[in-house]
Amino acid sequence: MTAPVLEARGISKSFPGVRALQDVSMTLGRGSIHALLGENGAGKSTLIKVVTGVHQLDAGTLLLDGNSVHFAGPREAIAAGIAVVHQERNLIPRFSVGENILLERLGDNLLRSVDHGAIHAEAKRWLDVLELDVDSRIPVSRLNVAKMQLVEIAKALSLRSRVLLLDEPTASLTPHETVVLFGLLRKLRDEGVSIVFVSHKLEEVQEICDQVTVLRDGRNACDSRSMAGLGRQDLVRLMIGRSEQIPNWSVRDRTTAEPVLELYGIATSIGHNGIDLTLHRGEILGLYGLIGAGRTELAKSILGIYRITSGEIRIGGQTAHIRSMAEAIHCYRLGYISEDRKQEGLILMHSVLENAGMTVWRKLAGAFGVLTDRTIRARVEPVIRQLDVRTPSLAQTVGNLSGGNQQKISVAKWLAAEVSILIVDEPSVGIDIKTKAYLHGLLRQLADRGTAILLITSDMPEMITLADRIAVMDEYRVKGVIANDRVYEGMSERIMHLIHGQEAA
Ligand SMILES: Nc1ncnc2c1ncn2[C@@H]1O[C@H](COP(=O)(O)OP(=O)(O)O)[C@@H](O)[C@H]1O
Ligand SMILES: [Mg+2]
Repeated sequence: MTAPVLEARGISKSFPGVRALQDVSMTLGRGSIHALLGENGAGKSTLIKVVTGVHQLDAGTLLLDGNSVHFAGPREAIAAGIAVVHQERNLIPRFSVGENILLERLGDNLLRSVDHGAIHAEAKRWLDVLELDVDSRIPVSRLNVAKMQLVEIAKALSLRSRVLLLDEPTASLTPHETVVLFGLLRKLRDEGVSIVFVSHKLEEVQEICDQVTVLRDGRNACDSRSMAGLGRQDLVRLMIGRSEQIPNWSVRDRTTAEPVLELYGIATSIGHNGIDLTLHRGEILGLYGLIGAGRTELAKSILGIYRITSGEIRIGGQTAHIRSMAEAIHCYRLGYISEDRKQEGLILMHSVLENAGMTVWRKLAGAFGVLTDRTIRARVEPVIRQLDVRTPSLAQTVGNLSGGNQQKISVAKWLAAEVSILIVDEPSVGIDIKTKAYLHGLLRQLADRGTAILLITSDMPEMITLADRIAVMDEYRVKGVIANDRVYEGMSERIMHLIHGQEAA
């Protein structure tokens, strides 16, 4: 490892009734990206808050450049060159984007006369770095969750710190926003900044991190190990204490059932070409591919978001032209769980009840004539309970829930809607392994009851757990479709072969 910059040694921290951290250590090297992993509740955020002066430690030491330090509060950590983006939002809603970005630097001067031109010019630099196209003069309250997240990151960057701690920064970002952020993190690392990166997305962690510390139940499962040679299964084993298991479910074959969604020679305005796919009743058809293979874009083309330039789509045997999400649901009983849940899946200002009820209300109105809060509630409540959504009440605003719980609500919505075709895009991003297993069980049940599912995932174990057949995509084409025999090693090998050019045997 490079020279240690910040070290946490033997840290313990309790809250009333909870030992959040017990004897935890982590060492950050200069110019490195350090993953901090663990399931929900493992203690990641608490460790970050201890390091940044938000919480006071009960035992242990913090060392900066080898010298013992103590931060009485967040301002002292900032002054020592440590910036943080906490998991929960910390912006002042009625302040402008620019004021929020420069808040820590302006401090009390903000209340006096300050040069607003200079604030916005400086803020814009940081927004540009993140390719964030928002006016720095508008109040933060007008931004969506992803943009708020990026503003928080801009705020941390503007401090030009030597240490940058990011607690689940990508949880609500789109893949493109994530790519931009990663480019920036690599650049900062090369300039010598030490970065801590918390994420549940193991592909991301493997892509960008150099070292890893894993917490399990408030203790180190590993302390500042090199990522080199650690595979996904190794990380999972460290996080949950065992390997991720492919459940022992039977192999399904639904190819003799009636086709419900058929694509013939589909080409699109964004570059798909010659795509033939058939999804049968009760079948789970996986779309596997690397980021940029065109899977989400294919789903969006089916939904009418991108233009289909040639070929034919059939739904239930009839030629179909879907023009909008509303039409997909109401005319074709086709639902879409988007990977980008805050943009398309959920309306964050609305309550859990409204969100989960959104797609069912029309149907219920048809059945009962009048739609009351009680009829929606009767349908939504069991699903919310089934998915174990942690919400204080159904009236809670969705934007205030954690990422994992938001994802569960976007799934709950479609389970309650009883669609006949469901397109699911990266369903388990942002949720922990236990919830993920639960979600997999639900999707499988849904398919057993006849729902046809088109599953897009970059998570190989998830693909092999759920899919009956797997279509492998690369560069906006389908390179082959293979039946899933659910034997992990053989399947993952055949899939990677297809991606890398060899035709299926
Ligand atoms: N301010 C707090 N008061 C009481 N308990 C807390 C507080 N913050 C965290 N905890 C508890 O500490 C444990 C670790 O939480 P946290 O650090 O948020 O985990 P993670 O970020 O890994 O999901 C959990 O049991 C959580 O409920
Ligand atoms: Mg946390």
